[in-house]
Formats: sequence, C-alpha cells, structure tokens
Amino acid sequence: MVNTYPFDPLTPDEILAAVSILRVSKKVQESMRFVAIQLHEPNKESVLDYEIDGVCKRQIFFVILDRADGKTYEAVVSITEEKISSFKYIPGVQPSLIVDEFFDCEQIVKNEPQVRAALQKRGVTDFSLVMVEPGSAGYYGDPIELERRLCRSIILIRQDTADNFYAHPVEGLLILVDLNERKVVRVEDHGLIPIPEEQANYTTNSVKEFRHGLKPLNIVQPEGPSFTVDGWKVKWQKWQFRVGFTPREGLVLYTVGYEDNGRVRPIIYRASLAEMTVPYGHPDPGQRYKNAFDVGEYGIGMLTNSLELGCDCLGEIHYFDVDIMTHQGEARRIENAICMHEEDYGILWKHYDGHTQKQEVRRSRRLVVSAIHTVGNYEYGFFWYFYLDGTLQMEVKLTGIVGVSAVADGTEQPEYAPLIAPNLAAPVHQHLFNFRMDFDLDGGPNSVYEVNTIPLSNDHPDNPHGTAFRAEATLLANESEAQRDVNAVSSRSWKVVNPASKNRMGIPVAYKLVPGATPILLANPDSTFGKRAGFATHNLWVTPYDETEMSAAGDQTNLHPGGAGLLAWTKQNRGLENTDVVLWHTVGLTHVPRPEDWPVMPVEYCGFMLQPVGFFERNPALDLPGETHC
Ligand code: CU
Repeated sequence: MVNTYPFDPLTPDEILAAVSILRVSKKVQESMRFVAIQLHEPNKESVLDYEIDGVCKRQIFFVILDRADGKTYEAVVSITEEKISSFKYIPGVQPSLIVDEFFDCEQIVKNEPQVRAALQKRGVTDFSLVMVEPGSAGYYGDPIELERRLCRSIILIRQDTADNFYAHPVEGLLILVDLNERKVVRVEDHGLIPIPEEQANYTTNSVKEFRHGLKPLNIVQPEGPSFTVDGWKVKWQKWQFRVGFTPREGLVLYTVGYEDNGRVRPIIYRASLAEMTVPYGHPDPGQRYKNAFDVGEYGIGMLTNSLELGCDCLGEIHYFDVDIMTHQGEARRIENAICMHEEDYGILWKHYDGHTQKQEVRRSRRLVVSAIHTVGNYEYGFFWYFYLDGTLQMEVKLTGIVGVSAVADGTEQPEYAPLIAPNLAAPVHQHLFNFRMDFDLDGGPNSVYEVNTIPLSNDHPDNPHGTAFRAEATLLANESEAQRDVNAVSSRSWKVVNPASKNRMGIPVAYKLVPGATPILLANPDSTFGKRAGFATHNLWVTPYDETEMSAAGDQTNLHPGGAGLLAWTKQNRGLENTDVVLWHTVGLTHVPRPEDWPVMPVEYCGFMLQPVGFFERNPALDLPGETHC
C-alpha cells in the first residue's frame, strides 16, 4: 500500500529507511533498542497545506533506549528529506518496557538463588514449569526506585506445559529486577500460602462435554459490503473517515465527517485511546502494588492481535494490516490488525399508525471498526460503531483472565478479593480508559457545555404541580471548570457546539457525549495511583488543542511518579470558549470478580456515545429505503 495521506500509518519501507538514516548517522549504537516508533504526525496547518499542494512530508518519531547506560533518546527522522530532524537525550525518564527486557527478566528471576529458595520452600522443584510474569513496577516513592529501570515480577506455576498457569499463583512473592543492571534488587516474600492446585483450563480439548443445538448462523452479503476503502480512507453511507494506527495507542480515527446535503461536515479531527490504567484495590503487600498503564508502559498497539475471519469477526470483512517495528529496528507486519464490517443492529426507527393500520420501520445497521489487544492476562477490544443516524459509539470489550491471588484453606470470603475457585481469589480492581477526542464540529471553533436535567423547586412559579423539569446547559469556560464527573440522576451529558454554525431554528449545531455508567478512580487522588493516573480522577476533561498534548498521563508513563499529562496541562486554566477543543473522556468499570469470570472471563463492556443534537435538520435516517416486503 502506498501512503498518500499525511495520517497514513507507516509502511515497512518507511520504517527501514528511517532506521537506516539513524544507523548511517552513527547516532544509534549496537546497544540501543528502538522502544517506540511512530508517525510524527503533522500539525493541522501542515495537513491543510497538503490539501492544497499535495506534498506529503513524512516524519518518523523514535524513542530509543541505550541498554548499555540506560539513557533515553528521542529522535525525529524526515523520510521525505532523508535526514535526522532532531535527536536528543531525555534525562530523568524511563521509556516503556520492551520485549527483550521481558525475556531477560524471566531468566534473571529464574536464576536468582533467593527466588529458587523461596519456591523450594513452597514445594516447587521443577523450575521448567515456573512461569515468570514481568510487569511494570509502578512508583511508590521507595528509595530503591530512584533512577532505576525496574520491573516487578510475579510467579505462577504450570502443572504441565499446556496448563493455564494463572490457576496456580505463588502468593506473596514479588521480585524487583533492575533491567539495566540485569539483576534482582529485591525479593519480597510475604509469607507462605499454598499454591492452588485445581486446574482451570479452557481450551477445546480440555472441555469434557460440549453443549448442543447451535445451528449455523451465517451473515451473507451477496452483493458485498456497502463501504468503500481507498488506502486508509473509508466511505460508508454518509460517513467518511480515515483509519489510522499507532504502536502506542492502537486504532486511531481521523477526520470523521458526515455527508449532509452534498457537503461533508467535519465532526472529529482525531480520536484515540490516550491512556488506560488498571489499579487494584487489595491492600495486601503482595497485591497493592498492582496498577498498569497499558498504553504508556507497554504500547498497546504493539500488542495487537491478528484477527481471524469467522472467529474474531463474522461476515464480509475488510482487514487492515499494520506495520510496526521490532526493538532491533526491523519491520514487522501484524496482519488483519484492524477489522471493519457491517452489522445488523435491530430496528433504527418505527411507527405503527393506528388509523391507517400501516407501519413504517427501518433496519439499523452499523459499521464496526475494531482492534483487539492482549496485555498479559487480559484482552481489550476497542470497537468504534458508526450508525446510519449520525451516532458514533465507542465500546470497549474486556475479556481474558482475571488477576489472581491464592488463599489458604478455610479462608472465608476475603474482603478485597472475592473467591472465584477453591483457594483462588481475584482482587477487586478497575479498568479505566481515557479517550482523546479532538473535535472539529463543522470546522470549529467549538465550545463545550454540560447539560443536566434538573427538576424545578416546588416554589418556582413555573412549577404549580411540582412536576416540572428542564435541561440546563452550562458553559465550561476554562480548564478548571471542565473537570467533570458523570451523574446519571441528572442525565448529565456534555455538548460540543459550533457557535457560528446554526441550524434552521437558529440554534448552534452540536454533538453530545453521552457517558455510560462509569466510575472514576477509587484510589485517593493524593495516592501514588491517583497522581500517576490523574486523568482517571474525572470522567471529563477539556483542553484547548495543543499538538504536544496527546497522552493523558504524559508521554513517559513507565515508573513515572505522576502529575504529568492532564494534571499538569490543565493547571494553566486555559480558556475553552469558541476554540479548538479536545475532550478527554475517562470511561471504564470497577471489576468485582465473580466465579463466572473464571477461568476465562465473558466479555464485559463499557463505553460512550456521540450523538448529534440539532446538527441535522431532522432525523437524518428518514431517507433510508424500507424493506420491500414490510
Ligand atoms: Cu477486570
């Protein structure tokens, strides 16, 4: 695929060309690893220039770690001009963890005599069945953490090579490894709890008896799908947008617009997952350190699945392959990384007229663009849905295997970790995702209002019967006013308006963000989790567009003490009225695990909707042809 547009994801040729430019310059040494590589996205003015002159200037952004001295560098390489635009040392940060380090860590932990002794104490003698699970170490203000590149490992045991090792956690054994020094710096052993023995396998060959009665359910589109794809550009019904991908964020949508009276009206300029966190609520020393940031600490895009037709996705599918880079600087393709297809979605609208005894009904259909990522034990799927009536939806699907802890015989229901199987508990935790949505409603500039539906007081002159209520819209004028939480009781939503673009009633056009039933971070905002995941302390943040503000918890999340990203930027308290607004929506769920989540968890859902409010003149799906036989 030849890239023709400034947002198009990197091609293998571009990756290899940029790596070669760096290697030829001798700035990159043998000991250096490419932690991250992605398109250095052009700012909005450059994209506008491209629209005029058609010259696509491609630049690539690198994060590089020197494993010899632990130093981090950031570089920008221009492919078009075949030169290094910048190369600088970034002091005081630890870039995200890389696969090489995970392999290293496993070996270091397995060879550590203290670890072997701790395992022998627990009756483990066959070290070939020991599974080391390295993870981000977080930040707890411990002096041992200062200026080190750490990872924290737990240990699980397989009973045979095909066994689900999450069923057999070694409780209370935590190993802190310095990845630069390649050594164990601390083994924490919080006491002996027997390793749970019951197996929990879920593969088809471990199921004793299958259920019956499911007849084939085929999705047939004899004339093919209704969308067209040109490179990364998609047109479906009246929607137009570009699909994108970064190794850090995964799936990205660009320049989402809807055709209305022959004109494509912009809605969103760019939408992506800007960070996520999984904080655990268990105070036990073997569990309380757990909080992961799968975007900033690992690069969730690097962990994208290759999807399988008929398994992950059903029907007439268009797949997008994406190209990422290995840490050694080679291109690696993830085939079928992004799935796109149409789904029937019940009815879109209907009315039966009792006088004429006739009904009008129209089917709803949605276009789905999705990607799924495996981060250790968990799977996260991100699904964008485009509907025929101008509604856009994000649905996160969470599945995989819950984090586990072992409990001794005779333990009653543990307070912070419900029992999910004999001797096995799963600590309570949250999954909180932050989506960055750079709005461009009717080309902007835009303002944001909070809308609450409020009952009138009993003594209000408009409320003689005590039944009146109304929707009140409040301008979020600056960044401190625009840090808001959901409120289901007042049907709270947030409305992006274009004050200069009015509908036929003379009212500014709008799209509203309708949140789901979502929590905020339960950890105290002053805690280490609260500071590092500041974005999760509110469901909504609004900032004025700044091309450097892309990551909700800051650019370098790994081992960072916190306070970066939204927490830092919004201290400026910049004005938001009639400007280029960026909405940051934190959405997620608090997971109190159930036995039914074991050994593999049925999908849990969370997400949000974006709906037009006076953006169109009327129901924009009135023009759908009905089914001929209805
Ligand atoms: Cu969970």
